[in-house]
Amino acid sequence: MSGINRREFTTAALGLSALGTLGAPALFAATSGPMERKIPSSGETIPAIGVGTVRYGVDESAASRAPLVAALERFHSLGGRVVDTAPMYRTSETVLGDLIASLGIRNDLFIATKVDRDNRKASIEQMGSSLEKLRVDQVDLMQVHNLIGWEDNVPLVAEWKEAGKVRYTGITTHRQGQYAEMERIVKAHELDFIQINYSLEQRESAERMLPLAADRGVGVIVNRAFGGGRLFDAVGEQPLPEWAAEFDCSSWAQFMLKYVLAHPAVTVVIPGMTKARHVDDNLAAGQGRLPDASERRRMEAWFDAL
Ligand SMILES: NC(=O)c1ccc[n+]([C@@H]2O[C@H](COP(=O)([O-])OP(=O)(O)OC[C@H]3O[C@@H](n4cnc5c(N)ncnc54)[C@H](OP(=O)(O)O)[C@@H]3O)[C@@H](O)[C@H]2O)c1
Repeated sequence: MSGINRREFTTAALGLSALGTLGAPALFAATSGPMERKIPSSGETIPAIGVGTVRYGVDESAASRAPLVAALERFHSLGGRVVDTAPMYRTSETVLGDLIASLGIRNDLFIATKVDRDNRKASIEQMGSSLEKLRVDQVDLMQVHNLIGWEDNVPLVAEWKEAGKVRYTGITTHRQGQYAEMERIVKAHELDFIQINYSLEQRESAERMLPLAADRGVGVIVNRAFGGGRLFDAVGEQPLPEWAAEFDCSSWAQFMLKYVLAHPAVTVVIPGMTKARHVDDNLAAGQGRLPDASERRRMEAWFDAL
């Protein structure tokens, strides 16, 4: 599974028109490549900023799909690889299967999907259908969605890993009410990843779940880093605090993503983004410095005071 190489990334990230106008610091940032993290269970590296596709479940019309083609193409050209989808996201898997095939980028991507059936037979059918819709023989990560049917599904995805139909296994939630159950599963089973909600607004996952994942050598995928978009309403029209520039933030989205990425247990964050301009903004959070522990506390205090 080869990622985009440095030369391709640099060319795509800069573009010919940008070459004439960028100053030295911007050139340096653009050529430093996407921020990467190691998957704890294997040591494989993947870019730390992926894309969530809960809003990719559109119809077949060219008008509905055009913005998604632009967003996915841009994501790929900037070195993005991790794409998270699910059967629960309406037609998202089918749309992604079509777009990935038409862009010819399957081998550059790390595709994660989910299973949400409550019995073994239905789960096997659903996972088979996911592979068909995504037009792949193997997905990189199969996650038990919202812990549904986990007693059957955790062993089942492990079997599929053994059989080579998935490369990594995981479980997901976005609800604090499921953390205690998730904790029990992580302690009792071998998993490659958990996927969990974490943001400036929702920090409870950092109390027990993120340290537990780090202790157990389990990768962490963060969903809802923008609270589903709510965090943008919270900051409203306020300007970024000047001190955000000290850790290379030039937008609120970067501020929110860098907060999450700076947690040492986090492997990947998967902001939902259906617009190419949001992809540009969010992937820039993978450039420059991350906030240190005291800067993260300052970010929390600032957010709490809103
Ligand atoms: N239990 C689970 O397994 C579970 C639960 C929830 C989510 N997830 C996964 O996690 C992903 C992320 O969650 P989410 O999509 O619900 O929420 P999110 O990432 O917190 O927020 C997405 C929203 O933020 C907007 N946005 C993105 N970048 C922006 C920017 N730079 N400036 C302004 N607005 C921006 C998006 O707009 P546009 O779409 O217009 O770009 C979208 O409305 C999902 O897509 C899904 O893959 C998994």
